Amino acid sequence: MKNIAVFASGSGSNFQAIVDAINAGGLSATISVLICDQPGAYVMERARAARIPTFVFNPKDYLSKADYEEEISMLLKKKQVDLIVLAGYMRLIGPTLLKAYEGRIVNIHPSLLPNFPGKDAIGQALAAKAKWSGVTVHYVDEGMDTGPIIIQERVRLAENETRESLQKKIQAIEHKLYPAIIQMLLTVGVVKHDEKTRAN
Ligand code: GRF
Repeated sequence: MKNIAVFASGSGSNFQAIVDAINAGGLSATISVLICDQPGAYVMERARAARIPTFVFNPKDYLSKADYEEEISMLLKKKQVDLIVLAGYMRLIGPTLLKAYEGRIVNIHPSLLPNFPGKDAIGQALAAKAKWSGVTVHYVDEGMDTGPIIIQERVRLAENETRESLQKKIQAIEHKLYPAIIQMLLTVGVVKHDEKTRAN
């Protein structure tokens, strides 16, 4: 059984979808730990309910990003984590974790990257009056939503699309797509960046 670590900062609906997929037998993995930088985040309740170990930290308690990432990295090594899954983690991953888990960190983003990276991708798509948006799962690099894309699924925006309606459509896709892609990555083996480049 492969081990994953989920990193989240907010409501954790994607975290929940992963938990549910594991419980339903659609994803063969163990969530070894939830890493969270917001003690009050709802995702913490979800982890408690699912009896998943958590590591909560406040970046302000550390001298630098390298310091807290070093601690997290040691914890993940101890728990033999195979894949880091970012699910609404509102921080950039720094060189310490990137080096330790090169090619083994993935993220989900609510737009068709490279369109609308960063915060509030749904609001950005609405403001731009985009006809299409969607969901992207991608490898994580040092940039903001810039890593190599693994898969995308698109959504057509209706004329009268609202933030709520678009969010609902996007979340419905995310909650199916993310567990399925995690399963694929764990099954076929996580593709490293250099291997990917050669394959392309
Ligand atoms: C999702 O839309 C995800 O694409 C983005 O952050 C959001 C997290 O939502 N990276 P949730 O906390 O999983 O509900």
